Amino acid sequence: MKKETKRILVTGANGQIGTELTIALRKIYGEESVVASDIVVPNAESTLHNGIFETLDVTNFDDFERIVRRHNVDTIVHLAAILSAVGEANPMRCWNVNINGTLNAFNIGVKHQLSKIFVPSSIAVWGPGVPKVAPQEGILKPRTMYGLTKVTIELLGDYYFQKYGLDCRGVRYPGIISSEALPGGGTTDYAVEIFYKAVAGEKFICFVNENTRLPMMYMPDCIKAAVNLLNAPIEQLTHHCDYNVGSMSFDVKSLVEEIRKHYPNFEIEFKPDYRQEIADSWPDDVDDSDARNDWGWQPDYDLPRMVADMIEKLKLKITKKEIKQN
Ligand code: NAD
Ligand code: SER
Repeated sequence: MKKETKRILVTGANGQIGTELTIALRKIYGEESVVASDIVVPNAESTLHNGIFETLDVTNFDDFERIVRRHNVDTIVHLAAILSAVGEANPMRCWNVNINGTLNAFNIGVKHQLSKIFVPSSIAVWGPGVPKVAPQEGILKPRTMYGLTKVTIELLGDYYFQKYGLDCRGVRYPGIISSEALPGGGTTDYAVEIFYKAVAGEKFICFVNENTRLPMMYMPDCIKAAVNLLNAPIEQLTHHCDYNVGSMSFDVKSLVEEIRKHYPNFEIEFKPDYRQEIADSWPDDVDDSDARNDWGWQPDYDLPRMVADMIEKLKLKITKKEIKQN
């Protein structure tokens, strides 16, 4: 009898993290074993078309379930979400996508006895008054709708584990810096956009001030955290969807200094907007001892290594684009 492949479904695969995490998962588990999905169809050149792609609005339970059944899905990597800045422009959409989308993933997980669901949380779970280095356990009083949804999802993760035995896992990602897909409307987007301007030789207008310090992480470490947590034996885990994971922490001034080692004439101007208040309500860094102890979390990139690699990758991307255009 032919053995059916158990598949991983990635929701929100067309986003900043999904674009690269899907490729990484396909490299590990095989192209046919990972189904990419998003409400937005990726452009024709996207690598997401190298394997199965399904159009899916995660707020639609029936469509979500149909895709899980059609592809014999065993694990959901649930990335579909509305991030902090876009979430403030449309709080109800943020609540609907983040909460109802996740509830659909969890309820499908219970109904079809899925093996695991990975759903990221965020440093946005904290609010004003959080200690500079945010502890694993502590008061969570976010001021953004996005933050509210992330706290709720963490609590739902505990609830679904205790009540139904659903194996749901997640990390509180810091701001993610990456070179493949642009970020999707968060407060930490400046730390990605700045590189595009530096490499293009243009001035960057920064929407937070130079002293804004936040926890950040480079994409290879973001992928490493997801893959390692997914593969960790459940007996070793002391948390579900709320593991703090640290990597680097820097203010904009230090980022500019590091970029100027590569582009000495790089110019920046500061024009803080509503995102300054959001950034100020988040911690400078996180205590990730539990992730290190429970499943061996260890990031590979620091600020200088990340900056050098980002610049290399973006230069290559621009050259490839120029070659294609000619
Ligand atoms: P993103 O905004 O880049 O991508 C989200 C994707 O979800 C988009 O492709 C969008 O089209 C899709 N989407 C939106 N509504 C949808 C719906 N109704 N149905 C299906 N798809 C829908 O976000 P990201 O940065 O890739 O984030 C992925 C996850 O990681 C989210 O849960 C986010 O909260 C979390 N996270 C991201 C960061 C970061 O800095 N990027 C930091 C912390 C946590
Ligand atoms: N990078 C995300 C945001 O700024 C944090 O979750 O919204």
